[in-house]
Amino acid sequence: MTTLQYLGISVRFIIVLCSAQHSAQPETFQVKGIVGKIHCFPVMVLKSGNLLYGDLGNIAHVYPGKRTPTNLEKRFKNRLHWNNVTGFFTLSDLQIDDSGVYTVENTDEWKTTHTFQLTVYYVLSKPQVTVNDSSSCTVVCSVENGREVTLSWYRGGEILNQTSSPDHNIALSLPLKVDVQTRDSYRCEAANPVSKETAVVPHSCIESDPSKVTGKRIW
Ligand SMILES: *[C@@H]1O[C@H](CO)[C@@H](O)[C@H](O)[C@H]1NC(C)=O
Ligand SMILES: *[C@@H]1O[C@H](CO)[C@@H](O)[C@H](O)[C@H]1NC(C)=O
Ligand SMILES: *[C@@H]1O[C@H](CO)[C@@H](O)[C@H](O)[C@H]1NC(C)=O
Repeated sequence: MTTLQYLGISVRFIIVLCSAQHSAQPETFQVKGIVGKIHCFPVMVLKSGNLLYGDLGNIAHVYPGKRTPTNLEKRFKNRLHWNNVTGFFTLSDLQIDDSGVYTVENTDEWKTTHTFQLTVYYVLSKPQVTVNDSSSCTVVCSVENGREVTLSWYRGGEILNQTSSPDHNIALSLPLKVDVQTRDSYRCEAANPVSKETAVVPHSCIESDPSKVTGKRIW
């Protein structure tokens, strides 16, 4: 089925620009996009076809004689392209609200319809770890919230705590009481389906706590 559409296209190109995963429904692909990047719909339309988006319907039309897409929607102006060599539609400078259902209709001799559920995510910024109480070495890790973001504390490979919230207007934060003896084994990790960022416990925590350090000194 869809693999047929890939014939003749370099494998590397597909992996880089056109990776798609099957979902439970055979004709729907769950695909992920990143804000500001390009998304490629890996279905060849060489002579005639359409790209449809959610309730808007047809947003691009390719037909013989006029081998460029006709953009019917302002919001996609200058961002929606059709490559006359690969036959793929691409959408550039992705925005969060480009998320939705796209359908590529190929109306060449082989009539096919492929549906993509596109979800666009931000690349996460690095989480911040601040010392809230240096005498007990209590730290707070925080990061901007967004679609499917989780914030977790780990010690080595072990997860200690995790948080997430559907309210994207409030930053995520997760406090932790750190054992100063093993301070370096902790890390805070922020993750979403397209990115992962980590931060470590700042040194100020242990330095401002001389009583606990003394026990480790050997002179
Ligand atoms: C593809 O489009 C370019 C311009 O964008 C044009 O120069 C070229 O001739 C086209 N190729 C085909 C096969 O239509
Ligand atoms: C930080 O410490 C103050 C008091 O020292 C406390 O009231 C507050 O809840 C702490 N914040 C977090 C996020 O644990
Ligand atoms: C995880 O974090 C929440 C929120 O701060 C806290 O209420 C809970 O006690 C923590 N759980 C563990 C195992 O530390």
